[in-house]
Order: sequence, then structure tokens, then C-alpha cells
Amino acid sequence: MKRREMILRSLRAGAVIPFLKPLDLLAKDIENLLSSAGNGNQLRFPPVFQNGGTMTLAASNLNVWPGQDTQVTAINGSYPGPSVVIQKGSVFTANFINNYNEPATIHWHGVDVPELMDGHPKDSIMPGESYTYTFPVINRGGTYFYHSHADMLTAEHVFKGFAGFFIVTDPAEAGLGLPTGNFDIPLCIQDRRSANIPKFLYNPTMPDIMHGFLGDLPLINGTPDAYFDVSKTLYRFRLLNGSNARIYKIALSDKSPFHIIATDGGLKDSAVQVNSFFLSPGERTEILVDFSSYNIGQNVFLKSLPFTAPGGGTYVQGTELNLLRFDITGTLSSGGIVPAALPPISYYDIADVKTTRTFTLTMNMGGGMNIHRINGLTFEMERIDWETPQNSLEEWKIINASNMLHPMHSHSHQFQVHSRNGNTNLAPEDKGWKDTVLVNSFETVRVLVKFSNYKGLYLFHCHNLEHEDDGMMLNFKVVDPVRINEENENIADEYKLEQNYPNPFNPITNLEFAIAELGFVSLKVYNPLGVEVAVLVNEIKPPGNYSVQFDGTDFPSGIYYYKLESGKFSDVKKMNLVK
Ligand code: C2O
Ligand code: CU
Ligand code: CU
Repeated sequence: MKRREMILRSLRAGAVIPFLKPLDLLAKDIENLLSSAGNGNQLRFPPVFQNGGTMTLAASNLNVWPGQDTQVTAINGSYPGPSVVIQKGSVFTANFINNYNEPATIHWHGVDVPELMDGHPKDSIMPGESYTYTFPVINRGGTYFYHSHADMLTAEHVFKGFAGFFIVTDPAEAGLGLPTGNFDIPLCIQDRRSANIPKFLYNPTMPDIMHGFLGDLPLINGTPDAYFDVSKTLYRFRLLNGSNARIYKIALSDKSPFHIIATDGGLKDSAVQVNSFFLSPGERTEILVDFSSYNIGQNVFLKSLPFTAPGGGTYVQGTELNLLRFDITGTLSSGGIVPAALPPISYYDIADVKTTRTFTLTMNMGGGMNIHRINGLTFEMERIDWETPQNSLEEWKIINASNMLHPMHSHSHQFQVHSRNGNTNLAPEDKGWKDTVLVNSFETVRVLVKFSNYKGLYLFHCHNLEHEDDGMMLNFKVVDPVRINEENENIADEYKLEQNYPNPFNPITNLEFAIAELGFVSLKVYNPLGVEVAVLVNEIKPPGNYSVQFDGTDFPSGIYYYKLESGKFSDVKKMNLVK
């Protein structure tokens, strides 16, 4: 019998199903429990992973609470796991060794990777075995996430510590003036149960499977009762909700405003000032917080505001919590600014949608097992639930027909949220590139998605990990693009370098080319002596048709050559600059 079935079978007999109940009473108790200003534990940071190195999964003991041993299931003995920090365009490699007693995979959440690198549960690494994860990092700069994705064991593995940051850096961000270095701080927010200290005891009951395994005690980067010393200056915080089920309504305890600058898939197109925002499991949001108006000796909490949600019993969604205390202790300056503008994002147009798919989220109370379903289905490892042609814009209409909250997540390419209940005026945490979106009780969320980089089998599921392990997950396959005519400009099935136009030119001309497979692309310009005079493209690119301009303003008249290289393909053409 599988673990989930065992748990569920033992519960089914006496299951009591709790329903909606106001949360405000409990919230106060928890506030009291946690108000320990003036002491606490200094915020911890996981070590940085050395690219190309080893990630070993094993049970180990750590002092999560000072002086007490907590058994964790963690990568390289670190909880959270070591942080991957890697530049866009480079190749990530990790040799995963499973020294734990259960099957496991590593999923690179939000990172667009080939099928066999995605950590699908079908590709589980058995105890004692190893596997090399390696892929080019093609995502935008941003804050991503890695975690276990083993079949029906994801929730327990993540709860016991198997999760970490995957941060993609992009040198193009350097010009924006954002805080960097010691002022650019990743914060992984998780919750555990104070009743079980110092154990990470994972023993979900039937209500826990229904609502998710919630705790009353926030851990920030694995630090309970955490504080962080800050200077009177601007900070960038990269918030990751690594909790199994808890949704946070992030705010500062004195209600000060701050700016949201990034969503799951990297920077937004503008910094937006807010007082609070929702962060559901799997989501990342980056914020800029300015401490310059505080005095030395003051403190302010990053907290979660109370909100109303379905549930009942000891652990409820929407509880008010203090997450992290900022102690204002220094006067250093980060030199960072809130940028007046951020690089533009091109938004999909719903008028270009080729296919609409509907996903109805339900709660099935009849059978006991597999409570949470998508289109009436529960996960089957071998079943492909639908096929999506590559490069075709789709609308996914996610209809939550239950009163549960479901943070819905897609693997592979990032998507864009279109609307909530028809309202296209989105909250700042929803607008930008996303891979996880919270779908509230009885709400319909529409997202627009196009898989342009990889074909293969990927997952769409609820990121409430108890819901996921309960089977609220489907398989989809990205297949060859549909080719009706050449109307879809992003389709390319062969390499091609076109003749430039205009030609002759002065001073600007257009160079067009097609790339058939994801890979490294270089397009360079040479003078008649064969000397390289300009680099127009020099990076990993997905398949597609591209157009770049060459500006001859600073070059003398004459013949020039341009050369395209990608994989085994190489071609050269001639162009004539006439001034
Ligand atoms: Cu972060 Cu398939 O999940
Ligand atoms: Cu994912
Ligand atoms: Cu769910």
C-alpha cells in the first residue's frame, strides 16, 4: 500500500470535515506566542552551491532551534538547501546523489528545462542512485526555486527540508540601480508546528489533506523567531513561499508602503508601490523596502496580515503572523534606487489565442481519497491529459468550483495572468511573468501561455503540496507545432540566414535569421580583411525567427560580411554600406 493510501485509510473512519469559520480569535493567540521582540535568532542563509558540484540528499541533524537536534531531509546537510546562483546564458550542472531511503527527483520550479531535466516523478532517482541534472539557463533573471517532486512524497520531502533557491542573475540588471550584494536578500518563508518543536513531524490528518498541512510558526531561511539587522537604506528582498500550504498576506507591521519589482519570472515592467500582497505556495515576489526613515534601535516586522479563508481547527489559513523582525542598526547605504522604469514586458494579446482549455477544480467528498481534482481527474503517472502544440498561444481558464484556495502551477514556460473573474485590472503580484497563480474560492482565473522552448512531458498542478500529493496534478505534453501556414512568425523548422535589407544601406540595415533548435547563437560582422567589427548576437536562443539591426554609423563605406553560427549550422552573407 502506498503511503498516502495508508494515511488516508487510517483517517477515513473518523474523518470530521471542518467548514468555514472566522479566524480572528486564533490569530491573537499566535501573535502573543511570537511577540519576543529584542531577542530571537539571527537570520540564516544557506551556502551558495558551486555550479558543477554534487547535491546529495540524505537525512541529517541540524540545530534549527539552538541546542536542539532536528532531523531534516536535506541537500548537502543544509536546510534550506544550498542556494543556486547562476548567470543567465550559462549551463547549470548538478550531480544529484540520492542517499535517502525514498525515491526522489529535483524539480527546478519556474526554470524552463528539457523534459528529462524537469524532475518529473516518472524520472525518480532510486535510493543509492545518482543523476546529473544539466541544462542551459534560458530564463530571465529572477528568483526561482528547487524542490523534491517524488510521487506522493513531495509534501513530506519539502516539509522536511528538501527545497532551495535557484537565483538567475542577469548582467543587464546592473544598469537599473537596484540594491545589490549585502542589500539583496533572499527570504524563503515556511511554516512549522510549534507543538512539535524540535521535530519536523509530518503527520497529516484528513483536514490537513483537505486544507494543506499548515503550521503556526514561521521559519525564514530555516530560522525560527528570526531577526535581521538592517541599515537605514533601500533593500531588495526576494520572497519565496516555500510552505506546503500556507498563503501569506505580506506587509510591514507599521503598514509602511514598499515596492513590488518582480514576480515569479523576474522583473516586472515597473516598480509598483503597495502596502500588502498575497504570496501563495510556490510563488516568488521581489520587493524593495526603504528603511531610511527609521531610527537606529527601532524595529519593524515583515508580517502576514490576517485574512478570511475556509478552514477550522488548530491550524487555519489566514492567521496573522510575524515573519521576520528587521532591527534597524546601521547607517550604511546600499546606493540602490527604486527605478523609475524597468525593461518592458511584451504582453500576450488574448485575440491571438489559438486554443482555450478549461480546468475545473473541484472537491470530491464522496470517496475519502483524492479529494481535490482537476476536471474530475486525479494524477496518473502514465496518462497524458492533453497535448499542447509548441509555439501556439493558449488560454487556460481555471475555474475554482470549490471553496478551497488553489495556487496553480505550470512547469516549463512561464505564463501571464489575463484576468480574475473577468477583471483584467490585476494586482501587481499577478502582473508580469508567472508560473504559479492563486485561484481563490469560486474564482475563475484566465492565464495565457505559450510553450516556445521545449517539447516533452510536463506537469500542471496545485502547489498546495498536500493537494498535489493527493493527486491534484495533470500531465501535458508539448508537441510539434501546428503548421497551417506561415502566419505564426515564431515557428522555425530550419536554420536560415536571410539577405539583409535594405542593401546597399546607410546607415541601418536589417538582418533576419531563423533558428531551428534551442542553442548557442552567434551573429557577427566582419570587414573585408576578415576582422570582426561587431557582435550582434552572442547567446542561447530558443527556436524561432529573429531580426536584428546593424548600425553602420561609425563604420566606413564598403563591403561587410555577416556570419551566423548555431550548432552545426554556419552561413555567411555580404552587405554593402554606401555613405
Ligand atoms: Cu514547484 Cu511541480 O512544482
Ligand atoms: Cu514547477
Ligand atoms: Cu489546491
